[in-house]
Amino acid sequence: MTTPKKLFIKTYGCQMNVYDSERMAETLGGQGYEQTDTPDDADMILLNTCHIREKAAEKIYSELGRYRGLKADKPDLKIGVAGCVAQAEGAEIMRRQPMVDLVVGPQSYHRLPELEAKTRQGDKALDTDFPEEDKFERLKSRPKAKRGPTAFLTVQEGCDKFCAFCVVPYTRGAEVSRPATRILDEARDLVERGVREITLLGQNVNAYHGAGPDGADYTLAQLIWDLDKVDGLERIRFTTSHPNDMGDDLIEAHGTCSKLMPYLHLPVQSGSDRILKRMNRSHTAESYLRLIERIRAARPDILMSGDFIVGFPEETEADFQATLDLVEAVNYGYAYSFKYSTRPGTPAAERPQVDPAEADDRLQRLQALITRQQRAIQDSMVGRTVNVLFEKSGRLPGQMGGKSDYLHAVHVDNAQVNIGDIAPVRIVAAGTNSLTGELL
Ligand code: SAH
Ligand code: SF4
Ligand code: F3S
Repeated sequence: MTTPKKLFIKTYGCQMNVYDSERMAETLGGQGYEQTDTPDDADMILLNTCHIREKAAEKIYSELGRYRGLKADKPDLKIGVAGCVAQAEGAEIMRRQPMVDLVVGPQSYHRLPELEAKTRQGDKALDTDFPEEDKFERLKSRPKAKRGPTAFLTVQEGCDKFCAFCVVPYTRGAEVSRPATRILDEARDLVERGVREITLLGQNVNAYHGAGPDGADYTLAQLIWDLDKVDGLERIRFTTSHPNDMGDDLIEAHGTCSKLMPYLHLPVQSGSDRILKRMNRSHTAESYLRLIERIRAARPDILMSGDFIVGFPEETEADFQATLDLVEAVNYGYAYSFKYSTRPGTPAAERPQVDPAEADDRLQRLQALITRQQRAIQDSMVGRTVNVLFEKSGRLPGQMGGKSDYLHAVHVDNAQVNIGDIAPVRIVAAGTNSLTGELL
């Protein structure tokens, strides 16, 4: 028997990259690779990268620099760059870091076995195509290894929306939805391997329009209702949604599908209509607020989450105030805010930029408001009973950690539960990042 080769994968960016990294590891498993959690003993290092902001992309080059010594000691070590930086920069990566052997984009990583073989022959391998063939179909053989209780499942990829700041339409390509039957097969397989909660993934997951079982297009809500019938699957989530694709049936499902969890990530980016227009978002602050009203009418306790960009080109103090007003009006359970980062090749990169110190100041003010809201909502959970899916043991002996329906992290001391159990928990205290509870 040959000894397995070791594969070290480091993942950056969004959940879609987390999912892709799992699939890459499985594909290379067929080439005799086993995963390792340190680069030191690896035969192959793969960085699955993110290009969304400048810092994310630059991080990759400093990480690569760190592997120079390893490569010098072990010339057989192969170094690969996958993901959105690979797609955006292609061969440029090998020019900047000649020790990189392999560059593969997010739409062509099913070809990793061929690319890896090429590097073993001493050649460089580069593939940033958007191939015709279905990547997921080519990747379908999954080893039947046991899984943890939660899993991601990509149902839709790419984006046709072209927000003026965003690289995703260029790095991930046009919007494509997977057929429902394949998603359902994958979900059943995950459940057989121990999964109890599935998060459906897509850059615009609610624009899902894959072929249904009879060939006609399915909506995300139809897919969710089919998943609802999968025995053993207890919780369904999806991310990330666009406000313009929030269909009536999806809103309704939040009120009527008991497996669909009361949490919705719905990025809005800004509260100023002038800026939203310049961002090419094709919705207004008002239409977003009306939409949330409808969602809350269907599911009053839903926890809202969102994304914001501050310091977008030409954003004034008045525009920023409109963003603060929108945040006040929504009351977010979670929200992620970013300082605008210029991305080469996107329309907004050419426009007059906001003074960086001003943008920093706005980011701090927005984050202070968001933190206050988050904390108030967490405090309001104290005394309430929530269902928790236990995912791992906690830091202290006997402690177990999991997530509530609302996605709050919850810790329970002396918990007589197993990983994968769902149990009612009474919340007794709220911290900054998690809640503490007692089993009922
Ligand atoms: N597909 C999702 C998320 C895209 S990326 C959506 O449409 O909502 C995740 C978040 O990163 C975005 O919501 C946005 O807030 C932020 N982001 C994207 N491009 C950015 C940029 N150039 N500068 C700063 N933040 C950015
Ligand atoms: Fe980027 Fe906009 Fe597409 Fe989201 S909707 S991925 S922010 S272009
Ligand atoms: Fe980053 Fe690509 Fe995801 S740019 S956010 S890893 S789609």
